[in-house]
Amino acid sequence: MSSNVEAVFSIEPSQHPVAAAERARLLENPAFGRVFSDHMATIRYTEGKGWHDARIAARGPFECDPAMQVFHYAQEIFEGMKAYRLPDGGGALFRPDANARRFRNSARRLAMPELPEALFLESVRELVRLDREWIPTVQGGSLYLRPFMMATEVALGVKPAAEYLYCVTACPVGAYFKGSNPAVTIWVSDNYTRAAPGGTGEAKCGGNYAASLLAQAEASREGCDQVVFLDAVERRWVEELGGMNVFFVFDDGSLQTPPLTGTILPGITRESLIVLARDMGLTVREEPYSIDQWQADARSGRLREAFACGTAAVVTPIGTVKGHKHNFTIGDGGAGNLTMRLKNALVDLQQGRAADPHGWMDRLF
Ligand code: PLP
Ligand code: COI
Repeated sequence: MSSNVEAVFSIEPSQHPVAAAERARLLENPAFGRVFSDHMATIRYTEGKGWHDARIAARGPFECDPAMQVFHYAQEIFEGMKAYRLPDGGGALFRPDANARRFRNSARRLAMPELPEALFLESVRELVRLDREWIPTVQGGSLYLRPFMMATEVALGVKPAAEYLYCVTACPVGAYFKGSNPAVTIWVSDNYTRAAPGGTGEAKCGGNYAASLLAQAEASREGCDQVVFLDAVERRWVEELGGMNVFFVFDDGSLQTPPLTGTILPGITRESLIVLARDMGLTVREEPYSIDQWQADARSGRLREAFACGTAAVVTPIGTVKGHKHNFTIGDGGAGNLTMRLKNALVDLQQGRAADPHGWMDRLF
């Protein structure tokens, strides 16, 4: 795709944008994913014709046929990324090229057409430029972008669809976990697994999340904020949380995170934290860690901290782990020092308060 893909988007500003005073009220303390900006980006795909009808227009409902394939066979993928307000009033995305690449990888796994990365990037950039007033200015606030694609062909045969709709919608967000506790409690899922070798675990497809909901509901019932999944073969190795990757911090100051072996989502936050930690001179291992070892190390004090990370969750300390066979607290159950140091390094960079030595920020205005 050429660099002047902007030209392909028709931009039709909403005739009924939310009034400034109402928007200011909505931006004060939005619950995650409940408040949306004025516009959305859409692109259609038809086999034989390719990508077409790229538009940014007023946000609104789609017209859907009941036999659209996505409703039946879940051929759907998505991304999650954020635009940040900079100290000088400007706005920037964090590593959008990494999301564009992962979106293509997810598409390939779900037998969907791969959206050219330039089109993906232009869709999010143009949407954020148009809805720039929706980027919160409060500390910790950002505009969460949700690009997604679904099979829209009207047909009940089980096959890759011949028609797709790509869309980006945007919502101002604050903290994902709203509780007053700085650390979350997580539930070890031994009844359910999230992904098996050869499955779709490393793709960001809606089906993975549908499959995680019962385990997440079990976690909530047990008074936990999130679920942690073990590998599907041995039910032993820690993989990731329902919507976040996981890191462990040891008494020698080193970090460890499960390796990307195909069953966990290759998180962009995960990868960024590995780089930032190594920049700080820390040792980071991408190696398997078992749930029993996690419990033994937390009890012996060899494990000092653990945290979850992702676009929505940013960096969230894990205080307590519970399960049918496990129950332990990490450190004093609160936020660990190294966890907070890494979190601050990441958010300072994302919010334009720190240098950007890796060229991760994509300034939009
Ligand atoms: N793992 C899962 C299952 C997720 O849903 C997410 C969130 O997108 C992550 C990990 C973290 O990925 P990222 O840091 O790219 O947001
Ligand atoms: C994200 O962090 O972007 C996700 O998609 C995870 C979900 C828990 C909101």
